[in-house]
Amino acid sequence: MAAAGRQSRTAPSLPAPLSLTACFFVLLLPPIALTGEAAAAAADDGLSIGVNYGQIANNLPSPSRVSWLLRSMRISKVKLYDADPNVLRAFLGTGVEFVVGIGNEAVPSIASSPAAAQSWVQQHVVPHLRAGARITCVTVGNEVFKGNDTALQSSVLPAMVSVHRALDALGLRGRVNVTTAHSLDIMGASFPPSAGEFSPAALHHLRPFLEFLSATRSPFLINCYPYFAYKDDPARVPLEYVLFQPNAAGVVDGRTGLRYDNMLYAQVDAVYAAIGRLGFTDVEVKVSETGWPSRGDPDEPGATPEYAGTYIRNLLQRIEMKQGTPLRPATPVDVYVFALFNENLKPGPASERNYGLFYPDGTPVYNVGLHGYLPPMLLSNAAPQVVIQFFRLVAIASVAFVLS
Ligand SMILES: *[C@@H]1O[C@H](CO)[C@@H](O)[C@H](O)[C@H]1NC(C)=O
Ligand SMILES: *[C@@H]1O[C@H](CO)[C@@H](O)[C@H](O)[C@H]1NC(C)=O
Repeated sequence: MAAAGRQSRTAPSLPAPLSLTACFFVLLLPPIALTGEAAAAAADDGLSIGVNYGQIANNLPSPSRVSWLLRSMRISKVKLYDADPNVLRAFLGTGVEFVVGIGNEAVPSIASSPAAAQSWVQQHVVPHLRAGARITCVTVGNEVFKGNDTALQSSVLPAMVSVHRALDALGLRGRVNVTTAHSLDIMGASFPPSAGEFSPAALHHLRPFLEFLSATRSPFLINCYPYFAYKDDPARVPLEYVLFQPNAAGVVDGRTGLRYDNMLYAQVDAVYAAIGRLGFTDVEVKVSETGWPSRGDPDEPGATPEYAGTYIRNLLQRIEMKQGTPLRPATPVDVYVFALFNENLKPGPASERNYGLFYPDGTPVYNVGLHGYLPPMLLSNAAPQVVIQFFRLVAIASVAFVLS
């Protein structure tokens, strides 16, 4: 989904110290509105759901403003596609936990030299940990088994091993997991879930890969989009089943007798089944991306704000209830929503640029009962229209608060 790895964006220059006026306005921010079950279930340390912070756009707010936005929503888990130092710095002291990424373009060189892995870790992980950042996982490449870049595919595991060794040598074993994020395209079969198996092309890569994950106790990450199933066959895929809405019968897996009321959990269990088929029972599956586009091209049915809002709202409620899947009821599904913002520079169909929870100006694309505040750019040296924009946002936010 998210495009493969990518260079860190250059930072907008850091703002000068806040003026007294700016502080005053910041303190005036109305309380955070979080409605319904999501609020009730949210632990003191924040929501369970994580969010993918993609930056393939030229109109996003600065990382320090984004850190305000996420904290106001009580999001405490963020996944990046790189290890953007400006983002990691902007979140220092917030307690927010990060998954950072090595872009696909850097994977072959890291695989070919232990020194390259060491220097990546020294440069992108160590200084941030030292400064107090929480980095819990490094993803080495993204969706590499989806395309046909066989050189990249065969370098992922060696790169993971090198990064793991480099972390180990620094005494960081167990503190930072090393894995990669897969597209659901690695599946050869996924229905019923108990019949889940990897595609023949992915299989020979995945066996040693799973040995690594099992030995290092790292999670298997999968990007799951029930939206794609709906888009491809809207007449036959029941909308309620993909949107987590009540559906009486659900789908019963004839072999296990397990009943599924939503497609996401069925996809996760299909991955567990495929992993189990290779003899691994101790590897946890996490959903590194899921989401629903709020807009699409004419040939992308279902990409509407209404469906996107329903998907995310219901997903959020399930995740905050700490539910497991039918196959692993005791393991709450760990999910990162894709994505924080609409990303205007993503190539491909219109849906690709419309997965965001928020527009770049911080207004929500749809109401999921989560309201965040994007603080203004520094008021003291901001253009008047920015100040006006700030008050507009406060007004919108206050309305949301009153309505919640
Ligand atoms: C495989 O690679 C060729 C050439 O590099 C490209 O044109 C083609 O689209 C690729 N196929 C897939 C499935 O990625
Ligand atoms: C590493 O992954 C394992 C398996 O998912 C998980 O239990 C553990 O908490 C992760 N470690 C960190 C530091 O997040």
